[in-house]
Amino acid sequence: PYPAYDQLRSRTPVLHYPPSDSWLIFDHDGVKRALHDHDAFSSVVSPPGTRTAEWLIFSDPPRHTKLRALITRAFTPRAVAGLEPRIRRLSRELLDRTIESGQMDVAEDYAVPLPLLVIAEMLGAPAADQPHFKRWSDAILDLSHTVSGSEEAARALDAFTAVTAEMQAYLRGLVEQRRAAPEDDLLTRLVEAEVDGERLNEDEILGFFQLLLVAGHETTTNLIGNAMLCFLENPDELARLRAAPELLPSAIEEVLRYRSPVQAMFRVTRRDVPMHGQVIPAGKAVLAMIGSANRDSQQFRDPDRFDIARDPNPHIAFGHGIHFCIGAPLSRLEARVALADLVARLGGLERASDAPWEPRRAIHVHGPARLPIRFA
Ligand code: HEM
Repeated sequence: PYPAYDQLRSRTPVLHYPPSDSWLIFDHDGVKRALHDHDAFSSVVSPPGTRTAEWLIFSDPPRHTKLRALITRAFTPRAVAGLEPRIRRLSRELLDRTIESGQMDVAEDYAVPLPLLVIAEMLGAPAADQPHFKRWSDAILDLSHTVSGSEEAARALDAFTAVTAEMQAYLRGLVEQRRAAPEDDLLTRLVEAEVDGERLNEDEILGFFQLLLVAGHETTTNLIGNAMLCFLENPDELARLRAAPELLPSAIEEVLRYRSPVQAMFRVTRRDVPMHGQVIPAGKAVLAMIGSANRDSQQFRDPDRFDIARDPNPHIAFGHGIHFCIGAPLSRLEARVALADLVARLGGLERASDAPWEPRRAIHVHGPARLPIRFA
């Protein structure tokens, strides 16, 4: 999409798209404003019929403020840092399965399962339950990948409604267990979190669990897949990283900027909003194009160059303002463990096929659905 973004950003940074009567914003300043100015741009854009209105990400203040404070209590940086040894173990186990063969599909064999295993582990779910997590996550992703109103979307909505009931029953069981016997895990902390005498109710815990499965899974999968893609496309930068492994955190920030896993976030205008000489009327759907903002030459020198030591790098891949990604420390940690393992253990990396790589099919996310590689 990048050449198209360039053209649009320079000609019409705010674009009305008549078929869906929605507005797209392409420049860094405009996207940042749409993400953080919650008086003008509301996040209450939950797809109808899905009960996702309970989700933190689809709420505005004051409800957002309460939910975010409670969830932040449970999802602390210390709790995330404590996951590192377990993430390392999961990453090694996944690599051990394919390493002898000299080839793997980075997406399917590694980047898809890893974040899902981490979420299950984080909640303290028994290993035997992991196949359920995969099924639930697929149902949520199918829904988020369809265009509302289509036949496909109606089918996806039925499947989502069915798994929601299943997830609710499952989670209720886990919550009861934690109430009876608290453990040192995220779920216990969610159950026990209290701010100003308020706690999360069962629907809110379920909503956060569903949000974790969608917000915490495919995004991190795509970050790992996109990192591999960037290195396969830029072997000089891979060699640079191998020679200076301390550049890994900055390399991950550059992947986030250069191939942003979340390309766009939705908002709806609360009032008429003047922007770049145009007026977006009240009540309109808005797409804040993060992927485009992160290639804006007004903000980034040589934006189409992948530079693992880029500094400064004020990308907005995790959003900006009150909705700033709660999972940013976790996904940075997962990406760090994953890339350290992939780069250290797989030598002579190359793509296993000359065919163009296959993207995931959804306009708001960006990453390879499949990425077969060969290595020594
Ligand atoms: C919010 C991106 C990983 C949980 C967001 C937002 C973005 C984003 C752009 C802002 C949404 C908005 O302004 O409307 C990403 C990317 C990730 C990632 C690129 C990985 C590379 C994760 C993970 C988790 C997570 C691993 C949880 C385990 C959340 C939650 C919110 C959020 C709960 C909502 C926060 C709020 O509304 O206050 N993420 N995310 N994300 N993310 Fe992430």
